[in-house]
Amino acid sequence: MKRFDFPHTHIIDSHQFSREDLNTILAATEHVVRLKEQNRLFGVLEGRLMASLFFESSTRTRLSFEAAMHRLGGRIITTVGFQFSSISKGETLYDTMKMIEAYADIAVIRHPVEGSSRIAAGAVNIPIINAGDGAGQHPTQALLDLYTIVRERGLPDKKRIAFIGDLKFGRTIHSLVKLLTHYETEFVFISPVDLALPESYRKELRSLGIHFEETEDLKAMWDCDVAYITRIQEERFADRADYERLKDSYVVNRAFVQASRHPTLLLHPLPRVNELSTDVDDMPNAAYFRQAAYGVDVRMALLCLCLQAELPDL
Ligand code: CP
Repeated sequence: MKRFDFPHTHIIDSHQFSREDLNTILAATEHVVRLKEQNRLFGVLEGRLMASLFFESSTRTRLSFEAAMHRLGGRIITTVGFQFSSISKGETLYDTMKMIEAYADIAVIRHPVEGSSRIAAGAVNIPIINAGDGAGQHPTQALLDLYTIVRERGLPDKKRIAFIGDLKFGRTIHSLVKLLTHYETEFVFISPVDLALPESYRKELRSLGIHFEETEDLKAMWDCDVAYITRIQEERFADRADYERLKDSYVVNRAFVQASRHPTLLLHPLPRVNELSTDVDDMPNAAYFRQAAYGVDVRMALLCLCLQAELPDL
């Protein structure tokens, strides 16, 4: 049996990971994928219970975590939305988490307030996984994005990666940019000025001596190895008029992709709205549905790592 050496109890923010941690997560995911191919995963988390706490809407993250737990032979309890939890009666997140700690072995939480996962982790002695906290972080999405890049195109070293769309509110971008600082990535940020990457992230890149380009011109993705396209995050705008003004800033469609001679790998965390046309979907470099599928594999690996589970040898 094999147990990977993983020094973290919780997964809260991509800043917590070293390059060595990323190597471990990628290796554990590959191990899980091989076991899955051999139908040897079921039972790895038998007897373990995951609380799936989604106080904000989700399709991929919730269902892929729940699928991951089921495929490992574990079980789940779940709550979706504030209206079906006692938070709607005024209970604090701290008290809610004290209850969850008594009921489950691990909890996955999505919450609209930035920093909520850290509060949850501080309240309990079970592993907490941040499944997206407001406009803050979405570290497990970034880990599956990293896995997708590695699987489809190899390690991100020396790769030119474009981030497109809502870089201000896009938490998946915040998390992925940080992970990619562990590689020799060339960053190209494409956004309207009003939706630029927050200064805290730009400052961090500068402090690490990492060069990055910023532009409003979508054509800058044409000479990139990877284009990470994102939705304008309607739910994060304080002023509806700003959203209406910015929502159609970019549209990546088949004609636009074909105009490039570079086989740029197209990623998107999904859901999409208008920024990525469906006529791109059957292009070989459109990897976003594969990316979502890899999410189950990466999340199986993360559940095993956080619960310090032993995996059968290959
Ligand atoms: N990518 C992502 O977080 O999707 P969901 O909001 O559907 O979970």
